[in-house]
This record gives sequence, C-alpha cells and structure tokens, in this order.
Amino acid sequence: MEKTIKIKENVFYVGVNDPQRRLFDELIPLPDGTTYNAYIVKGSKKTALIDTADPPKSDVLLSNLKNAGVAKIDYIISHHGEQDHSGSIPVLLSLYPDSRVLTNDKCKAELIDMLCIDEDRVTVIKDGEEVSLGDKTLRFIFTPWVHWPETFITYLPEDKILFTCDFLGSHFAFDAGKGLFVENNEDIYLPAKRYYAEIMSPFRTVIRKNLGKIKDIEVDILAPSHGPLYRGKDFIESCYNDWSSDAVKNKLLLAYVSMHGSTGAIARYFIEALKKRGIEVAAFDLADADVGELAMELIESATAVIGSPTVLAGPHPKAVYAAYLVKALRPKTRYLSVIGSYSWGGKMVEQLVEMLGTVGAEIIEPVMVKGYPVQEDFSALDDLAEKIKLKHQNLGLL
Ligand code: FEO
Repeated sequence: MEKTIKIKENVFYVGVNDPQRRLFDELIPLPDGTTYNAYIVKGSKKTALIDTADPPKSDVLLSNLKNAGVAKIDYIISHHGEQDHSGSIPVLLSLYPDSRVLTNDKCKAELIDMLCIDEDRVTVIKDGEEVSLGDKTLRFIFTPWVHWPETFITYLPEDKILFTCDFLGSHFAFDAGKGLFVENNEDIYLPAKRYYAEIMSPFRTVIRKNLGKIKDIEVDILAPSHGPLYRGKDFIESCYNDWSSDAVKNKLLLAYVSMHGSTGAIARYFIEALKKRGIEVAAFDLADADVGELAMELIESATAVIGSPTVLAGPHPKAVYAAYLVKALRPKTRYLSVIGSYSWGGKMVEQLVEMLGTVGAEIIEPVMVKGYPVQEDFSALDDLAEKIKLKHQNLGLL
C-alpha cells in the first residue's frame, strides 16, 4: 500500500510504485523500476482522477483512493490509451458508477478497442478546452506523439500544476511517502535521458513542437505519469530541448557482436583507431548490451557503426536487432557504417546497409574482413576511422 500524499491544497498523489519491474513492453529495460503516477484533484464541485495505473496494480490505486477519502469521482482524465495509465479505468468505472472518462476522440477509440469501455461513459474533450471542477479548472493541451497519436496533457492553472503523462517522465521508482519531488537534478538526469531515448526520441520533431506548447506556461509543479515530480519545469524542459535538438556530438556508437573473436578483434582495433583520432567511442558488445544505454548514446552520437560476423550468409541476429533499433529510434546520427567478418561469402553488409539506409544518414563505405584481421584489414579500419574523423571535422565537432 502506498501513502496518499498531498501535493497542493486538494491535490493528491495516489500513484503506485513498481520498483521490482524490470521490463516494459517486454523490451525496454527498467533498471530503476517505474511508477504509475495518478492524481486526485478535488474541486469545490467536482473531483477528477488524473490517469490510473497498470492493471496488475489496480488494487494499490484503489487502496490509495480509499485512503484519500475519495468517495466519488466525477471525471477520469485519460491522457493516453496505453494500459499502464488507462488499464485500471474499467474497474474504476465499475466502482465509481457516476464517473465519466474525459479524453480526446483518438484516445476514446483506443479505450474502446483495447479496454472494451462503454462509449456512453466517455466524454470527448477538445484541444484547449477547459473543464471546471468548481474552484479548480482543468485545461487540456493536445500533445500528439509523445509517444502515441492521442496523447495530451492537462494544466491546472489555479495551482500551476502541469500533468504531462508520459511526456517529460522517467522510469524511476520512488517511495512517495519519503518524497515526491526530484531533489537533485543529477539524480534523475540519466533515468530521464534513458526514458527519452527509449520512448520519445523517435518523435523528436513533434517533441520540439510540443515543447513550444508548454514554453510559456507558468509551472510550479510538473507532474508526469512516471517517476518523481519536478518543482518547476526548467530542468527537464532544458534537457528535452537539448536532446531533441539537431545537434550531435563528437561521438561514435559501436554496437558489435563476435562469434569466434574475429569481429571482436576488428572492433577493438577500430575503437583504438578512433580514439587516436580524438573521437569519443561508446562500444557495446551486443552479447549482453543494455539496449537502453545504446539508445542513450544514439541521442547524440554523430556516427553509429554496427559490427557483425556472417551467420548463415547474413548478419548475426543480434546485429540485425541493433540495426533494427537504430532504424526504429530514427536518430539524428549523421553517418553510419558497418564492420565485420566472413569466411566464405554472404550478404551480411548488404543486408545491414539496406536496413540502415532508411535512417537517412550517409553510409560510409563498410569494412569487411575475411577470417581474422591482418595488416591490410587494420589499414582499412584506419582508413574508415580517418574518414569519420574528417566527417566530424566538417561538422565542426573536432
Ligand atoms: Fe507510460 Fe506510453 O505509457
């Protein structure tokens, strides 16, 4: 059971801590667990619940509502159809028979499709619309694609609280009873960056637009749906401005896998060749890489290189996975290449280059090695490192 925490007068945190969860979407590592933040706003006439919790944690949310003395809910604000925030709506509609879901038309369709919610219990709101709770007002701001098409956020002007759902959040479990707020920005920087990298980075162009929508809003408390709350928005807003910008750094991401040591030897030589030329390298052995860390490096690396041996005439499946991630995360990386090895032939490079080609970055001529690398292969790797150095110099990074 969580504690129910007052945030401001008649505004309460009723969210759920999930420190043991280690995977999201059966894909994204959660080294710090997560939370499903939900909030009660009690106006003089109406009461609203802002988002809910993942279904396996519905009981904790219901207990928190009970502890907060919430006998009646008029509105359930559903910012986002994904089940970690919407999944407890069916049970809430059942337990609070007078409640209605307030959401936009896109989210309404998702809730009906995914949760079989009775559409008669849903009221559709519009961008910029305000709903009065009496002495408190909910103002809805549509922020599509952070990170689904329906996503929106809510501003409570009387208390200057901005409820941002996934936007600007972090997968970071915390004990609400010990404190709701980020106390040291450096403690949340990496979890917030990881969250941005894994979930938000494919949408950085629309993120910039959505940042513009909150730029001039006065915010005392920024209340996301994952991770601790912020006093003010300056820190996380400036992080997002940085991460979503077009700027890249003098960094190279190398994601490689080796079966019998050849690609490993190629990768090690290449790393040193790059370092000698002043390029910072973040190298990941895909045998046990944390894809979240890989995604974080992709946010700002000017260049990314995939290293693979040849397996069954194509790339190693872990290299395919890395290339797919690069493609899916749509990074601002300017240059891409492939290094690797083969024994008797195959289409490893062609297949990886074809996958990476959709990223829109320039492909620098890959280096393929037959068997274990020898001097002429090391020279080819030096040439590749030199080309990358020149590219980085042309970008003014070196
Ligand atoms: Fe936290 Fe997109 O759900």
